[in-house]
Amino acid sequence: MTDIDNIVILTGAGISAESGLATFRGPDGLWEGHRVEDVCTPEALARDPVLVHRFYDERRATLGAVAPNAAHQALAALDRAWGGDLLIVTQNVDDLHERAGATRLIHMHGELKSALCAACGKAVAWSDPLPPASVCDGCARPALRPDIVFFGEMPYHMDRIEAALQQADLFVSVGTSGAVYPAAGFVQSARHYGARTLELNLEPSAGSVYFDESRLGPASLLVPALVQDLLG
Ligand code: OAD
Repeated sequence: MTDIDNIVILTGAGISAESGLATFRGPDGLWEGHRVEDVCTPEALARDPVLVHRFYDERRATLGAVAPNAAHQALAALDRAWGGDLLIVTQNVDDLHERAGATRLIHMHGELKSALCAACGKAVAWSDPLPPASVCDGCARPALRPDIVFFGEMPYHMDRIEAALQQADLFVSVGTSGAVYPAAGFVQSARHYGARTLELNLEPSAGSVYFDESRLGPASLLVPALVQDLLG
């Protein structure tokens, strides 16, 4: 690929699937045996904090048993080598991008390894189980919750993402179904600002028609091939 300086790469659950982490929208619409609405909304947290906290405790605990795959490694190599602007925007709450070595990275939907104070807004690194009503060390109130962006809440870093999309020459989407906004709309923004748009996914996503090109297959093959292409 030529004439590309600035790149934005959006990743979703599909990039971590080959590491052994479940995606969200399987044929039965369940995620790890739960409906997403039962564990990923502010209402669910208010109604049944024990269930919601336990669900994310279990997800956090699985991180130790999985490792970055070739797709995460390839994006980390691109991050190290790319001379222009690069922003990896992940919808994933796992830590596989950073464990592979990526640094130009934004977690727009939060992180399993972080706890958020619902009272004062302070976020703190968290590796252990997080019981409901755990105390915030910033404001001393018993208000820590999983640092996950629930449905109905505003994703993180939208200003920075929008600015990167405005400057992007290439927008790549990897392993996302395109079912959840605002991330699903990034391809249209990127196009609007003049970027070339490329989708890498196992199957066409909901927004597939908006991409200039779709490459179908596993991320562990498609992403390293793209990175090799970009780095020449
Ligand atoms: P989904 O589960 O909706 O979509 C995963 C996509 O990855 C699907 O299109 C699969 O075909 C594709 N896929 C699966 N395995 C793959 C592989 N090995 N290589 C390439 N592609 C593969 O997950 P997301 O789009 O990430 O939000 O879901 C978006 C958001 O919905 C999540 O961030 C989460 C959820 O609600 C929050 O938790 C806030």
